[in-house]
Amino acid sequence: MNQIVNRRGILAVSAVAAAAVPLATCAGYVDAKDVGAVEDLMREHGILRRLLLIYRASAQRIRAAQTFDIAALNQACAIFRQFGEGYHEQKLEEAHIFPAVAKAGGEAASYIDVLKAQHARGRAINAYIDSATKLGKRDTRLADALDRFELMYEHHAAREDTIVFPGWKEALSASELDDLGDQFEDIEQQEVGKDGFEHIRTRVAAIERALGLSDIGQFTAPLP
Ligand SMILES: [Fe+2]
Ligand SMILES: [Fe+2]
Repeated sequence: MNQIVNRRGILAVSAVAAAAVPLATCAGYVDAKDVGAVEDLMREHGILRRLLLIYRASAQRIRAAQTFDIAALNQACAIFRQFGEGYHEQKLEEAHIFPAVAKAGGEAASYIDVLKAQHARGRAINAYIDSATKLGKRDTRLADALDRFELMYEHHAAREDTIVFPGWKEALSASELDDLGDQFEDIEQQEVGKDGFEHIRTRVAAIERALGLSDIGQFTAPLP
């Protein structure tokens, strides 16, 4: 284990960092507990996946003709549009990740066109979900839109997590990645405010409570 000085001037301990980076370049190295750019993107996907599970549960209830809090579904859609589309997709992926990945080439680059098309289709579907839920609709067209959006976005985020983000990380140097991590934190503060991630997570948890989805034990699968 070696001690290094992080960007806040605090002594940080990191065996990995010291092994990979000469000590002279360590002054700007991230604290081991800082959220890096890729971890940031992936935990944002975690928020979006929780919203997708809200979409799925809502579609099931519509199909089963069960009553549920449609306003809570509308709030989930609003968070997806603001946090997922306005911030994660447009300010991070389309502005920073996709151009760098396209330039680097390789397998990750081959996904960029379809990922962009899915962002655009997702925006159109979420605009429909927003207006349908504001009107209090509970019909098959809405249930289909929720299910199809969920299926598309699960495939989308899984490819980003396993191919596009690793490809992006590969294309950058450690210091570029560190700088972008800082830049992403600034963009996050501008777009969703200070403690934005925690605030969004609290709002998602409140929607889950309203829809009876908080206790994940209910989803522990029965034995076959
Ligand atoms: Fe995306
Ligand atoms: Fe994404």
